[in-house]
Amino acid sequence: MKVIGIETSCDETGVAIYDAEAGLIADLLYSQIDLHRNYGGVVPEIASRDHIRKTLPMIVDAMAKAGCHSRDISAIAYTAGPGLIGALLVGASIAKSLALAWDIPALGIHHMEGHLLAATMSPNPPPYPFVALLVSGGHTQLMECRAHGQYVLLGESQDDAAGEAFDKVAKMLGLAYPGGPQIARVAENGIPGRFIFPRPMTGKAGLDFSFSGLKTFVLNTIHDQGSLTAQDKADIAWAFQEAVVDTIRIKCQRAIEHTGLDNLVIAGGVSANQLLRARLQVMTEKKGCAVHFPAANLCTDNGAMIAYAGYLRLVSGQRDNLEIQVRPRWPMDQLAPGPGDSIQTSLQPSHT
Ligand code: KG4
Ligand code: ZN
Repeated sequence: MKVIGIETSCDETGVAIYDAEAGLIADLLYSQIDLHRNYGGVVPEIASRDHIRKTLPMIVDAMAKAGCHSRDISAIAYTAGPGLIGALLVGASIAKSLALAWDIPALGIHHMEGHLLAATMSPNPPPYPFVALLVSGGHTQLMECRAHGQYVLLGESQDDAAGEAFDKVAKMLGLAYPGGPQIARVAENGIPGRFIFPRPMTGKAGLDFSFSGLKTFVLNTIHDQGSLTAQDKADIAWAFQEAVVDTIRIKCQRAIEHTGLDNLVIAGGVSANQLLRARLQVMTEKKGCAVHFPAANLCTDNGAMIAYAGYLRLVSGQRDNLEIQVRPRWPMDQLAPGPGDSIQTSLQPSHT
């Protein structure tokens, strides 16, 4: 059984093929970052147009690389949301058209479920139930994952996502987009402790996050310095990364204590952050728990996670109709449960 996965929710075109026996047999990724860099962020119309240009040729390439014919493919999974509406519509239209032509199902996948399941594509996946931290450019959410498709929101950011805060602070420091890897790189030369930034919302109970006050704190610090030397930038990047990572560590620890669960899964673009990985490793070890991360190439957006999530949804009985609809906003706890439940009805995308 082979499933094609198509990811077009933002600024990466990802196409992959997951095989039930062999695992990933094709995994192609094209990043539009160079097109958006001059604008300091993703320009939705440019993103949509570029997905139109790249997606079909990449499907042809992936099929050739995997040595597949259309008759070998059991389903086409695509990101149905959340994400940029125009970009999502490109993937959805191509997936549904191919599904009609090849007479196979097209399955709409939740982007964040894709990120989550990418962390379970390992020889030793964590057993359900577990706690997941989904931390990307658009989301910072703690979820209790009871089973495949059964997700309960424990807490989330009340304003900026952690990745968004990395991107905005990077911009303030004159660093390139996307900001997360740049901040991490520059912070390596930072003098520890020259600046100390707040750990937002850790002083009061609860599992919600807020990063916009921290962002303003950084902006004020930058203004106080006047013009910034390379060392100032490194020291600010160090303090900012430290504050975000420590805040996330505190909330993850709280979520483990609150749920009594002993496996923690971290997924989404920010899960690539090495300091975050190291701190969560130490925290979970101290608590006698385990932490699981996606492979490095599966942290940021990719087609493999959509192909794998599509395979699991196909096996669990999801069948969508051929109507082309996407959900730019789509709370993950509204997803249908896994095997045995009526995934079809609750996965019908609604208007947003
Ligand atoms: O999951 P993703 O590729 O796209 C979304 O679904 O949003 O995440 C992208 C985000 C960006 O904000 C980027 O700055 C952040 O992930 N990111 C990182 C790192 N690598 C990517 N943040 C911190 N440290 C990193 N190493
Ligand atoms: Zn993502």
